Amino acid sequence: MNSSLRKVALVGGSGHLGPSILQALQSDPTTFDVTVISRHSSQALFPPSTKVLRVSDDYPPDEMVSAFRGHDAVVLSLNFAAEFQHHSALVDASIEAGVKRLIPSVWAGRIDVAEAREIFPLAAVKYGVLEYVRRRAVECEGWSWTSVSTGLFSDLCLETNFYGLDPSTHTAKIWGDGTAKFSATTHDSIGLAVAAILKSHPAETKNKDVYISSFDISLNDLLAAYKSATGVSDWTINTGDVDEGIEEAKRVHATSSDVMEKMRAMGLLGLLVGLKEGLGADFTAAGVVDNEMLGVPRGDLEQAVVRALKK
Ligand SMILES: NC(=O)c1ccc[n+]([C@@H]2O[C@H](COP(=O)([O-])OP(=O)(O)OC[C@H]3O[C@@H](n4cnc5c(N)ncnc54)[C@H](OP(=O)(O)O)[C@@H]3O)[C@@H](O)[C@H]2O)c1
Repeated sequence: MNSSLRKVALVGGSGHLGPSILQALQSDPTTFDVTVISRHSSQALFPPSTKVLRVSDDYPPDEMVSAFRGHDAVVLSLNFAAEFQHHSALVDASIEAGVKRLIPSVWAGRIDVAEAREIFPLAAVKYGVLEYVRRRAVECEGWSWTSVSTGLFSDLCLETNFYGLDPSTHTAKIWGDGTAKFSATTHDSIGLAVAAILKSHPAETKNKDVYISSFDISLNDLLAAYKSATGVSDWTINTGDVDEGIEEAKRVHATSSDVMEKMRAMGLLGLLVGLKEGLGADFTAAGVVDNEMLGVPRGDLEQAVVRALKK
């Protein structure tokens, strides 16, 4: 028999992902009692009646222990810089506060695959975050974790043309033959997964990495969806080889002194690691996907493209 984790503290309830997690928890007020923990300097606005606890910007351990105390679960959805600096201390604070379940700030792809970590440095950083969490769970009885692997954030990727398809110029960069499939998930589905883990599946998800996916898609699928959504079938296609693209992006990332260029190279590695065959980026084909267990619906790609075009 599962016992729901009802009192939830959410750190990073603003930003890209946080509002969808907050929305999913707040839409079930008979189950969840949510407190958002936000920095004093934050300009973030939350829906009326949201319980917000302000803490110092560098999340001091003593403040965080008292902020977490009395909560069943802590969900971390942190900005990358904060993750890098504060994640381990936040894990420790949740343990000291007597929290039962932590959802760490991972929200990534196949960080469990060594070759993926070798290609995409952020996957290696996330793996380190999760290794610390795993180690602490072995040491600390009564404390547990569930991490959520999402693949790419599909809303963000569509809105920023991250996939390399640009609806304003009708130009697409197609890597390989365009058929390699990868998983991508909407923010709303991630919120639903978090709520389902805490409400209905705490036992099945204890000390596990769960995988969710709204779409298992290829660049060709995306191109077809864009053509249909824009009504323009005549797109200019540029092509590239995935392995050559990875080597070039690694070289730029390692050698460039231009911060923006380095960030673009890192972003491209994040896309190409999903397009390289054999690294499990398509969660469904890899047999790891947990949508059914969590009751998280699949998405409609064309509708998602239409939504992004309206933004
Ligand atoms: N799989 C993917 O495609 C993908 C894409 C993007 C992000 N992610 C992951 O998703 C998680 C959340 O990312 P996100 O893009 O939603 O994060 P974000 O918008 O950059 O930041 C999330 C929250 O972190 C808090 N924060 C703490 N220190 C901060 C600082 N120094 N600067 C700015 N904000 C700070 C803020 O909350 P307050 O203002 O309320 O304090 C902020 O709203 C991360 O683990 C990230 O790596 C995954």
